[in-house]
Amino acid sequence: MILVTGGCGFIGSNFVHLLRRERPDEPVLNLDRLTYAGNLENLLDLEGDAGHRFVRGDVADADLVAGLFARHEIRAVVHFAAESHVDRSLLGPGAFVHSNVAGTQVLLEAARRAWDGGGGRFVMISTDEVYGSLGPAGSFTEDTPLDPSSPYSASKAAADLFCGAYHRTWGLPVIITRCSNNYGPWQFPEKLIPLMIQRASRGESLPVYGDGLHVRDWIHVEDHCRAVLAVLESGAPGRVYNIGGGNERPNLEIVRLILRALDRSEELIAFVADRPGHDRRYAMDSSRIRRELGWEPCVPFEQGIAETIRWYADHRDWWERIISGEYREYYARQYEGR
Ligand code: NAD
Ligand code: TYD
Repeated sequence: MILVTGGCGFIGSNFVHLLRRERPDEPVLNLDRLTYAGNLENLLDLEGDAGHRFVRGDVADADLVAGLFARHEIRAVVHFAAESHVDRSLLGPGAFVHSNVAGTQVLLEAARRAWDGGGGRFVMISTDEVYGSLGPAGSFTEDTPLDPSSPYSASKAAADLFCGAYHRTWGLPVIITRCSNNYGPWQFPEKLIPLMIQRASRGESLPVYGDGLHVRDWIHVEDHCRAVLAVLESGAPGRVYNIGGGNERPNLEIVRLILRALDRSEELIAFVADRPGHDRRYAMDSSRIRRELGWEPCVPFEQGIAETIRWYADHRDWWERIISGEYREYYARQYEGR
């Protein structure tokens, strides 16, 4: 059985679907706390699937996690659960230390005890943001020193360091993946692409931070999930794998593309105060995973973004329900007076 944490979030739910589709004989135990970002609706189509078992709980709850290892034959962990939004980490960093740092250490400890006699595999889902910011040229390799800018990326870097320590000290078979910015179905509409799709669809202003020329390397979530599966099955313990889409775009280009696709005016763009500590540019060198595991991204950006925009149009009920709840209060706090 594979323990997938955070399997009700954006990337986790896409990964659970991929596993159920491609590895139907491998049962999945999905541990998710169902924070604001976790949504069982993302997995509605798995209702009645005996190969998917959901447990609501906190990865930082040591008794709960130890109990899961005692009751189930967990042969691998794929650890997605985290507080994942930079802007929220500026409003309240404490939750990021709890879920991302303490949560990861609790899981590592439970895995170490359970796999004492050997075996097991622990895949840590990390991010390019642990490397900090790039100038106009170059890209991050797996050897780039960690230099995180935000409380979010600092918490992910700390979790990565715990992974390295458990591998070096106890030989725990941990593998770290660091991926660039994902887009695709089920992404919570606080992140750039779904936020802009959702607001443009409603004819609302689109808040672009600073000059809008910050660059991200966008990858379709399906490509990320296939990379994680490759790492789970063939990655070398102790190794780090960068995963990137090879698709660098300034934010303003993304926003304009969404406006064009939805036939909305560029007058909706509102330049707002920049994010403090805003990383200027991310770019990934993914040659290691391409060379060693034969992975490469398959979804061309133009196709992926068109499908994603269509998906949000077809799932308006899903995001309308989300933005009518706690999200309203968050949006007011984050963007008020900016
Ligand atoms: P998300 O915010 O959409 O989902 C996170 C999930 O984790 C939610 O289902 C939430 O309920 C759950 N969760 C949070 N804290 C928990 C806790 N203490 N215990 C149990 N469950 C908890 O995030 P996402 O965008 O799907 O990201 C998933 C992972 O991928 C994260 O680790 C993130 O750092 C990493 N990542 C994300 C991106 C990206 O572009 N979104 C890029 C690279 C890496
Ligand atoms: P985001 O989706 O939050 O991902 P990350 O900060 O983890 O890369 O943001 C992507 C980029 O878009 C980032 O440069 C910040 C910018 N951005 C805006 O300009 N306006 C917004 O409202 C949001 C949410 C992000």
